[in-house]
Amino acid sequence: MTGSIKHFVNLQDYAPSTIEALLAQASAYQQGQLPTQTAQPVAVANLFFENSTRTQTSFQMAESRLGYQRFDLNPAHSSIQKGESLLDTMKTLAAIGIDLAVIRHSATAWYQPLLAAKDLPIRLVNAGDGVGQHPSQTLLDLLTIQQEFGHFDGLTVGFLGDLAHSRVVHSAAPTFRRLGMQLSFAGPTQWQDPALATQGDYVSVEELVQTADVVICLRVQLERLAQPAASAFTKQDYFDSYALTKDRAEKMKAGAIIMHPGPVNRDVEIDSDLVDGPRSRIFQQMRNGVFARMAMLQHLLTAPSERN
Ligand code: CP
Repeated sequence: MTGSIKHFVNLQDYAPSTIEALLAQASAYQQGQLPTQTAQPVAVANLFFENSTRTQTSFQMAESRLGYQRFDLNPAHSSIQKGESLLDTMKTLAAIGIDLAVIRHSATAWYQPLLAAKDLPIRLVNAGDGVGQHPSQTLLDLLTIQQEFGHFDGLTVGFLGDLAHSRVVHSAAPTFRRLGMQLSFAGPTQWQDPALATQGDYVSVEELVQTADVVICLRVQLERLAQPAASAFTKQDYFDSYALTKDRAEKMKAGAIIMHPGPVNRDVEIDSDLVDGPRSRIFQQMRNGVFARMAMLQHLLTAPSERN
């Protein structure tokens, strides 16, 4: 691989015009446009250090549709278990002929030490880092909103739930704002994130649900909660106080939609029936993920570098 190495770790590295172009390319793929074949075969390695169903399978599907050579590494069976660093693993994969690594990791900003390394010979794609960023999720969320409303400017998006531990909201908020959307946040006081107050308004659950064009329910991130925080609520207490219930959903604006990144804790952060109901775009989000990720990967390999 020659030329400047680029990476796709944070959507804030990309200008709004580039994000619009990525969405247009994702839509074109969805409408049946065939990918342009690269001159050389592309080899991609997927490393998921944290559990995933949607993101992992969706990247695999995107890579297959793009005609890439796909290598799915199981970190539990890799030499990282023998003490090899992530940087040395990347250098090793590059030496073997891998062009691009898609990585999910529980460490927030796992990519920073790698980007600091001189001449990293492999392109990195962030498939989710701790409570940091989830750029492919943000892109598929944008695609879903664009399909519904045809624009972003002036829409109100409400994020409801476990804000502090959600990379989905940390990734989406600044980019949604740059594209002209207004944001509101609601959730348990102890799971609020003061940093989000610079991106929008903290409001009551009722106000959020009644004023948003898009309600994004966030999963309670049990795996990131230490005891006793994990047991701060009974399931019923949380549902009654903070969930998108049927009673609350009845007061949503006409035309407003429900999104959730998944996996869903049914009857915890959202009433199970709403997941499959007419306002839900949750499975459309999953379908869109394949096309959004195709556009990301092709952009990384073919477009000139922006910041990275
Ligand atoms: N939304 C999301 O990242 O889901 P997975 O954890 O299943 O990939």
